[in-house]
Amino acid sequence: MNLLVTGGTGFIGSHTVVELLNNGDEVIIIDNLSNSKREVVDKIKEITKREAIFYEGDVRNKELLQSIFQKHKIDVVIHFAGYKAVGESVAKPLMYYDNNLISTLCLCEVMNEYKVKKMVFSSSATVYGNPKSLPIKEDFPLSTTNPYGETKLMIEKILKDLAHADKEWSIAILRYFNPIGAHESGLIGESPNGIPNNLMPYIVKVAIHELDHLNVFGNDYDTIDGTGVRDYIHVVDLAKGHLCAAKKVFNSHGVDAYNLGTGNGYSVLQMVKKFEEVNHVKVKYEITQRRAGDIAACYADPSYAYQQLGWKAEKTLDDMCRDSYHFIQKNN
Ligand code: WQD
Repeated sequence: MNLLVTGGTGFIGSHTVVELLNNGDEVIIIDNLSNSKREVVDKIKEITKREAIFYEGDVRNKELLQSIFQKHKIDVVIHFAGYKAVGESVAKPLMYYDNNLISTLCLCEVMNEYKVKKMVFSSSATVYGNPKSLPIKEDFPLSTTNPYGETKLMIEKILKDLAHADKEWSIAILRYFNPIGAHESGLIGESPNGIPNNLMPYIVKVAIHELDHLNVFGNDYDTIDGTGVRDYIHVVDLAKGHLCAAKKVFNSHGVDAYNLGTGNGYSVLQMVKKFEEVNHVKVKYEITQRRAGDIAACYADPSYAYQQLGWKAEKTLDDMCRDSYHFIQKNN
């Protein structure tokens, strides 16, 4: 397959490009480097010994997109490009709606123009809001509490309407749970700028003494130890899920959504303990107030993705903790 990957130098995008190249596929990346670095393209080549074609640019640039579709035969588009920080989206909603929605509309219009109607879309478990029960299935009610989540929900609706209007479209919507970890080489991984929003990047920075301690956002939830429970999934497992989804859309029609999670939930304190055990380090923490908008617990029922895509997560929590730490040690 020939694939266009938007946001292909990002955390999940870069790991997906590695799996596609290792699978023998041809890959074109478009990325505006707003949350990643150009050097990731070279790291991908170092890992796979194969080259992805790279265009630096914004998916809202219609002329650039048209020139890429004009120049390259594209079978499937994997659409990662978008802002993804919940807190930032609350402070800057217009930036999130403009970037995430306009880029998707522009991409779909150009795809339509060049009769490329197969897409894998990067969605998020955040579209489930505060689930009524657990584990979460794909037919659960959808609702969100922040502009970031709203953009994911709106884009899912746009894609469903598109596929219902034009039966030639073939779309897989992938709802990620909590991606962490890094490629075993330590060459690519998650390196957020500044103070991390998410748990694992924060733990890692405490472990290397870049930050003094972890603030545990509340220990009074109705969970095993009072701290938040999430379904952490290794980014390489997530990347392999995109390869399976690309094969699915290549050979089918219609639109469907799939949970990409492990089906296991772990609390914040369980994550801290596991990280310390696996990496033989100490992670200092303090219990603080709950973070606004957080839910108590969230984990997937991943059985539909196994049935439909032939995919399931294989890496362990030990792998996730070890690979996260290995990456920061190689790149700090
Ligand atoms: C995990 C747990 C926190 C940081 C978000 C987005 C979601 C997706 C993944 C984009 C929670 C606790 C965290 C810290 C803490 N992003 N925590 N101290 O909130 O489940 O999901 O990121 O797609 O859309 O909503 O992930 O890693 O921020 O939090 O105690 O410094 O760790 O309360 O229980 P979250 P997270």
